[in-house]
Amino acid sequence: MRIGILNSGGDCPGLNAVIHGVVGAATELGWEVIGFKDGFEGLLPPGDFKVLKRSDTSGILKLGGTILGSTSKGHFAAKVGAGDVALVPQEIIDKAKRMIDQLGVGALIVVGGDGSLTTGMQLYNDGWPIIGVPKTIDNDLAATAMTFGFDSAVTTVVDGLDRLRTTAQSHKRVMVLEVMGRHAGWIALWGGMAGGANVVLLPEIPFSFEKVAEFIKQRDARGAHSTLVVVAEGTKLPDGDVVARASASGGEMRMGGVGDIVADRLEKLTGKDTRACTLGHLQRGGAPTALDRILGARFGVMAVKLAEEGQFGRMVSYQAYHVDSVPIADAVNKLRLVEPDGEVMQAARAIGICFGD
Ligand code: F6P
Repeated sequence: MRIGILNSGGDCPGLNAVIHGVVGAATELGWEVIGFKDGFEGLLPPGDFKVLKRSDTSGILKLGGTILGSTSKGHFAAKVGAGDVALVPQEIIDKAKRMIDQLGVGALIVVGGDGSLTTGMQLYNDGWPIIGVPKTIDNDLAATAMTFGFDSAVTTVVDGLDRLRTTAQSHKRVMVLEVMGRHAGWIALWGGMAGGANVVLLPEIPFSFEKVAEFIKQRDARGAHSTLVVVAEGTKLPDGDVVARASASGGEMRMGGVGDIVADRLEKLTGKDTRACTLGHLQRGGAPTALDRILGARFGVMAVKLAEEGQFGRMVSYQAYHVDSVPIADAVNKLRLVEPDGEVMQAARAIGICFGD
């Protein structure tokens, strides 16, 4: 048996751990693994791939990024149609399918987020032996309690807040930290809670600048002269706008910039010296945490198990400390967002975090 693996979409700490898990489990079965380069693009003739042996994956568990490369652009990202029915053109799929057949790939493991898994599902519906592995730092995929990469991103946010706290305290400033997550506030919520943020602004919760400013003034009045604010990049401004711009090189809208706007308004409303800082891709790079290494490796091993059982069209899923699987269709085209009244939010409010609502 020969199986393939590819990483598609934005990179994410823990991708190499998945590859490590896949190659390890497949080697145990006496199977050969082909790693396709740069996402689905590597499937197109003449094919861009390499055979992965155990020796190729030794020591990669701790590496950020992906040894296979990834892309969120290219032939497979140029979908036709809109929304849930956007599809990769059939001629591209047929070209890639010939490559897969020629190489004798009996299972293809697609490691990706919502967009890439939607492509994976299209290929499965076209008759391909697809197995999905969920990947995103945003932790916004439905049908899995957690994706690898999220913990590493949160850890970077916590480190950022620890650093901002000391400079904020020294200057009695308000520090606004903008973090990633697209339309989901998980990174902001978990990072803010673990890093001791005083204010957290999320895409899921409408906020008012006046309420946040009042909270900061009250803190000031009782002697807490510095305030840490975390704002998720997808947070809607009170007029409902998300700060995003079209990317000159194509692809999805690029989010970012809300932190500066929030800092500016809070400075005007509170009169306090305020600075903004954007963590950006620091959250995606670097070594994965121990949790993400283990989760990634377990996901990779489960993907091979699904291939062994011929359970195609399924996605590896993490459910209450247990790695299992669900139909890919259960996970795509629906985001898992922060529940405003959920237990985590209740805990965050109970420890004194202001959400500006
Ligand atoms: O989906 C992961 C993510 O890091 C988002 O949090 C962020 O908005 C986006 O990707 C950035 O994408 P790019 O690397 O294409 O700028």
